[in-house]
Amino acid sequence: MSNIVIDMNNIPKHIALILDGNGRWAKKRMLPRNLGHRKGAFNIADIAKEASALGIKVMSCYCFSTENWNRPKQEVDYLMQVPIKYFKRYKEKIENSDIKVIFSGRRDRVPSNLLTTMEEIEKITSNHEGLILNLCFDYGSHDEIINAAKKLAIAVKNGEISVDQIDEKMFEKNLYTKDLPPVDLLIRTSGEERISNYLLWQIAYAEFYFTPVLWPDFDAKELEKAIISYQGRTRRFGGLKEEEK
Ligand code: IPE
Ligand code: IPE
Ligand code: MG
Repeated sequence: MSNIVIDMNNIPKHIALILDGNGRWAKKRMLPRNLGHRKGAFNIADIAKEASALGIKVMSCYCFSTENWNRPKQEVDYLMQVPIKYFKRYKEKIENSDIKVIFSGRRDRVPSNLLTTMEEIEKITSNHEGLILNLCFDYGSHDEIINAAKKLAIAVKNGEISVDQIDEKMFEKNLYTKDLPPVDLLIRTSGEERISNYLLWQIAYAEFYFTPVLWPDFDAKELEKAIISYQGRTRRFGGLKEEEK
């Protein structure tokens, strides 16, 4: 395994990460859970740089789910402040990088100071042409799909489109991830093997990679392992490969 190198001609375009295990990482060290979240947040930037260097175009990160509101208030409050603290500290670095940051998810429930930060990060990176870092915050696939269905229903009601015009392309354009390509590789850390309401539409033909490594410990080497595993898969998209015919 260690001798296998990455094939630079077969790099996934879009990787999606379920960054799980921050709490367990902290618990193992007898630290409060929030310190795990802090370490996990710093790790996003490191892995984004690594992904960018490998030629990955889009990296989606599950940062806060629509179900995570069910956590204790002090943990939710902390998670709502993480991007703000991060931005205050690294504004210049973000501005001077070539990474384009976008947020996917609901915007009507996050605190107003977080919303302001999200909009500012998106604004100052909007012209960047490097990796797209899609941060999924107050994101849930069920919410996203219902939201898209409602938008289309309203457009039909207003006579802007007809029901027959609704196809996969149009539906996709109404998802939070509207301009992103489909997910090629989905990675979940911490040993859990479930999707937890993440990018259900977008992972239709993604390859899955589960690792027991906790998110704060997931480093460049772990990312490389995931890519190498991906490169060993046969993607058929329902068809057959040339050699299988
Ligand atoms: C993932 O880590 C980050 C968020 C869900 C915000 P967890 O907080 O779920 O960590 P574990 O699963 O409890 O270890
Ligand atoms: C999924 O992790 C959500 C994020 C990583 C933001 P959870 O820790 O919330 O998922 P479950 O509850 O174990 O499925
Ligand atoms: Mg978890």
